[in-house]
Amino acid sequence: MSFKEMKKIAIIGAGNLGQALAAGLTKSGQYDPSDISLTRRNVEELSLFADSGYKITTDNSTAIEESDLIIVSVGPQDAETLFLSIKEVLHPNKHILVSTITGVSIDKIQSVVGQQIPIVRIMPNTAVSICESMTCLAAKDEQNESINLVKNIFDKLGRTLIVKESLIAPATALCGSGLAFFLRAVRAASQGGTEIGFHAEEAILLAAQTARGAASLTIDSEMHPESEIDKVTTPKGITISGLNEMEHQGFSSAMIRAIVRSANKIDDIINRT
Ligand SMILES: NC(=O)c1ccc[n+]([C@@H]2O[C@H](COP(=O)([O-])OP(=O)(O)OC[C@H]3O[C@@H](n4cnc5c(N)ncnc54)[C@H](OP(=O)(O)O)[C@@H]3O)[C@@H](O)[C@H]2O)c1
Repeated sequence: MSFKEMKKIAIIGAGNLGQALAAGLTKSGQYDPSDISLTRRNVEELSLFADSGYKITTDNSTAIEESDLIIVSVGPQDAETLFLSIKEVLHPNKHILVSTITGVSIDKIQSVVGQQIPIVRIMPNTAVSICESMTCLAAKDEQNESINLVKNIFDKLGRTLIVKESLIAPATALCGSGLAFFLRAVRAASQGGTEIGFHAEEAILLAAQTARGAASLTIDSEMHPESEIDKVTTPKGITISGLNEMEHQGFSSAMIRAIVRSANKIDDIINRT
């Protein structure tokens, strides 16, 4: 089987992540709004997208029939019902099925849809709306062509990494939930900034742009974060006193435990479904 182009996209379950994906796909310049169908049951929630030219419908089957790439982005509790309701309109020679659903394996999806449809699991985060996602992708070995087609699209929506399927749940904790952890760190820094004299909006700008700089330095230099930290710490200096206070208060431990706790919670959800 050879796929040439994924010209039309259906996002089935356009909630928070689905809407962020839609925004990113057009912002990246790869798709026009008219190439993208968005579905959900409460379709009135998508009126702003309708106004921008996206196709909006409650009819999952029609959206799928009119599309090549099918991104399913419903909650885990709705997954089985949804896959059962769309399995008749999925065609292995036409569609690639992409799932963002937490905790639902490729084998599970395959067993519900009951045919050898190419399936790619992805774990992006909502920064996909501004093309700054970290997206992990996984597929069965025989779906090499499909995963690379999907990767090419997501390469323009931030950074990507192909991983084993067993690492998709950990990626949810580090990258999906991780977005919230770093936002909380930005908020905390801005609260400190306000206490030392900045207005709240200024403090958030200063904290967020500093966080962006730290992230960009890490990615661009491909160095361990500690090597950049070494450049800004001097003996008996200001920065090391703040860093050591953070560690006395358990900053690294809190972040590590947040990521491990989130990953364990995903395991709980998987065991319950
Ligand atoms: N948010 C994130 O950052 C993130 C990151 C990575 C992965 N994920 C995963 O991606 C999935 C979506 O997350 P989310 O945060 O976007 O959840 P969400 O905001 O709850 O969106 C899911 C949407 O699915 C719709 N839906 C449910 N059943 C449907 C059906 N039969 N047909 C069409 N639409 C249906 C719901 O809308 P209606 O009730 O109007 O139908 C809802 O808006 C979840 O499995 C989540 O774990 C999320």
